[in-house]
Amino acid sequence: MEWGIRNRLAQLIQKDGRALFLPIDHGYFQGPTRKLEKPGETIKPLLPYADAIMLTRGVLRNCVDPVDTKPVILRVSGGTSVVGEDLANEGLITSIMEIVRLNASAVSMSVFVGSKYEHQSLINLARLVDECEDYGIPVMAVTAVGRELEKREARYLALCCRIAAELGARVVKTYYCSEDFHKVVEGCPVPVVIAGGPKVDSELEVFEFVYDGIQRGAIGVNLGRNVWQSEYPVAMIRAIRGIIHENCKPKEAQDLFQQVKAGKD
Ligand code: R5P
Repeated sequence: MEWGIRNRLAQLIQKDGRALFLPIDHGYFQGPTRKLEKPGETIKPLLPYADAIMLTRGVLRNCVDPVDTKPVILRVSGGTSVVGEDLANEGLITSIMEIVRLNASAVSMSVFVGSKYEHQSLINLARLVDECEDYGIPVMAVTAVGRELEKREARYLALCCRIAAELGARVVKTYYCSEDFHKVVEGCPVPVVIAGGPKVDSELEVFEFVYDGIQRGAIGVNLGRNVWQSEYPVAMIRAIRGIIHENCKPKEAQDLFQQVKAGKD
């Protein structure tokens, strides 16, 4: 691996081999998502605890301070909306020159395996990898399910992750599943990070799936709504950081959450 791409990956994946990415790209297809109406304000208290942020160029330019931030994973696929016909019909929305100009440490894009637009999204991934590798920029593939959240089971996720890695993604972001998640990771020759999906009911539930995902081989998370839609987002990200970088168990993460929430830490 060449120096540039190794260096960029090292900005994202920390020395312990783990990673905590904070995605705030949701507006690219769903508009001003709850608690992300002002993304700059949402992330300000969370940034110290994130290893990287994932977002579009529009939010990066307008809402993030270029001199006081974290490594950037630039979302470069889009072109659809929640009120449009099909979320899977994405194209590439950012040129390689813009990616370089914005000093992205990596880029991310969605693939929609099994959808009507499977071929289009996979060819987009392959082309993006070709362009970005020329500049030493790693591509993180996102195995997207659109509105079909029930697709989040091991056989399907393993298929998506493996295909994304075969096409050249350096990191794959996928969903956690409680059954056979280790098969998803084992079948994927590049590091896997877990997305959170819609906010779940309890903090402990989040800590448990993050912990279990890490035990089964994921290197970390790319977790958005379950952090910044929490009533206590700083406590949430610190507890998740505890699991990822300090090997906390779910119960310990819960204790840390309570301490930070109570202002005792
Ligand atoms: C959706 O495709 C977005 O790319 C998000 O970055 C991703 O889903 C992770 O965020 P969340 O944990 O809120 O699902």
